[in-house]
Amino acid sequence: MPTAAFSQALLDWFDRHGRKDLPWQRDPTPYRVWVSEIMLQQTQVAVVVPYFERFMARFPTLADLAAAPADAVLALWSGLGYYARARHLHQAAVLIGARHGGDFPTALASVEALPGIGRSTAGAVLSLALGQRHPILDGNVKRVLARCFAVSGWPGQTAVQAELWRLAERLTPHDRVDAYNQAMMDLGATLCTRTRPACDRCPVASSCVAARQGRQAQFPQPRPAKRLPERETLMILARDPTGAVLLERRPPSGIWGGLWSLPEIAPARDPADWCLEYTGAAPLRLEMHPARRHAFSHFALAMRIAQVWVPRVATQRIAEADRELWFSPGAVADLGLPAPVRSILADLAPPDPDPSP
Ligand code: ADE
Repeated sequence: MPTAAFSQALLDWFDRHGRKDLPWQRDPTPYRVWVSEIMLQQTQVAVVVPYFERFMARFPTLADLAAAPADAVLALWSGLGYYARARHLHQAAVLIGARHGGDFPTALASVEALPGIGRSTAGAVLSLALGQRHPILDGNVKRVLARCFAVSGWPGQTAVQAELWRLAERLTPHDRVDAYNQAMMDLGATLCTRTRPACDRCPVASSCVAARQGRQAQFPQPRPAKRLPERETLMILARDPTGAVLLERRPPSGIWGGLWSLPEIAPARDPADWCLEYTGAAPLRLEMHPARRHAFSHFALAMRIAQVWVPRVATQRIAEADRELWFSPGAVADLGLPAPVRSILADLAPPDPDPSP
């Protein structure tokens, strides 16, 4: 879709479906639009409206805001969250007094230089309030553009962000920039939602690469997963002369609570000592298996695995059937086992006919 057709489709959609009577859209001065944009940064329109009304009743002008104590601003923000927004708003009002004689600046660079205002918010204020032609790129607009133009990569990456800005700049029309920018934000907030986008009602669906290919869920790509902190454990894969494996029931709470698993010892301990303690004898043979890694939500578990061939097991140990049991590796199918333990057992070689050293 050519650039002009893209913006025209958005403008037509905005004329038919866009919200045009929100409090900051009536009398859209730079001051009022700025306050609304800051409030809308992490908060939905319906939540913002009453806060905006109270804020404007208490601080009708930029001068009122600059003259107020910071605490009074924070008090009116109470319940909106992300209080750094309120502190920056107040600091910026004071700075506008010092730098710009109390008039909201009209140059993009001067607006961007104020605390709490990035390039997109600066563009939004100057376009929505004064009709200046500036692209915007908030989270909603990033999603719309990433889908329409199949921009891959995480938008937090510099190169991806730069590509999105280039697109935003190219698509921004020369006429009706205020309506166009508002339409892009509204489209992202209402139809081009993160989950289950309403492409059937979208004005640019026919030219949207993601929609045409059914790949809406793939754009924008999420932040790459952080490397998880790692914990280490040493698992004992005890085998008796028949090849049976010793399983222990895990404590009822914590990871793998209540499941059957391999005994674990402190990573620094010698598995031979464990054998001595458990059976009263030294291992017949001891082999380290390749380590395995299992990712939990908040950490990764590095599992070192020591296969310890034990001599015959004393009968009183077998009596502790609630807590520990010897299983033939082929007989564990019905047991509640953690997936990594199941996988370790599945990979076991058949019992060695002569497990002596
Ligand atoms: N989010 C940030 N700015 C917005 C705006 N002007 N309209 C709707 N949602 C927004």
